[in-house]
Amino acid sequence: MSILKNYTKDKFPKHIAIIMDGNGRWAKNKSMIRTRGHEKGAETLENILKKARSLGIEYLSVYAFSTENWKRPKLEVDAIMKLFSKYLEKKKEEFKNNDIRLVISGNRENLSKSLLKQINEIEDYLKDCKKIVLNICFNYGARTEIVDGIKKLIEDKIEINEENISKYLYNSFIPEPDLLIRTGGEFRLSNFLLWQIAYSEIYVTDILWPDFNEDDFEKAILSYINRDRRFGNVK
Ligand code: FPP
Repeated sequence: MSILKNYTKDKFPKHIAIIMDGNGRWAKNKSMIRTRGHEKGAETLENILKKARSLGIEYLSVYAFSTENWKRPKLEVDAIMKLFSKYLEKKKEEFKNNDIRLVISGNRENLSKSLLKQINEIEDYLKDCKKIVLNICFNYGARTEIVDGIKKLIEDKIEINEENISKYLYNSFIPEPDLLIRTGGEFRLSNFLLWQIAYSEIYVTDILWPDFNEDDFEKAILSYINRDRRFGNVK
């Protein structure tokens, strides 16, 4: 029985962002190589996306690879690249059939030509899907995103103010997250969506991402429903 059964969709967050942390620890606890944790993490993402879609969540942003993650051993970086590419290939038709739009946010500069081509193709193929937007932040860093946005504003001779900076961030059609979930128990933001989460509610759980399931996701949403969002105002 769902713990959200007494609530209607208008109480749910419209946009949920997730820092999917703990893949490495999950694998280590099971004496497996770290990449096995990422593979299991990709399966968790499938389950959570399905759940989010069925609840009527409109946007799901996930942190899959940060600009700092290049510092990891080459073997692990290569494995994540391959996993991501395989994921895009596997999901293309399934997303189309389920009306799921996919966008990728991040710096495109260091990605391989073949991955870039794949990203552009799938984004274009799914651009009219409407049920939910999955925003995969890949080769993503919030500070770079903000600096690049401001540089472009200057280039375009547009006034620098909050509204215009927001417009010049990646995929700025997506509203700011209402809820940020971090698995794996760390209380930090790790350069994720720094501008956009100014007023987001934050939920941290010790559960490692590969173990995070649909019930845990519902618990995070219930916690959000019970928060008192004031946006700096009084009630
Ligand atoms: C953080 O765990 C996770 C990552 C850096 C990669 C996230 C990738 C996935 C969930 C799967 C790939 C995604 C797609 C879209 C196919 P960590 O390795 O930092 O874990 P640790 O903190 O336990 O070491």
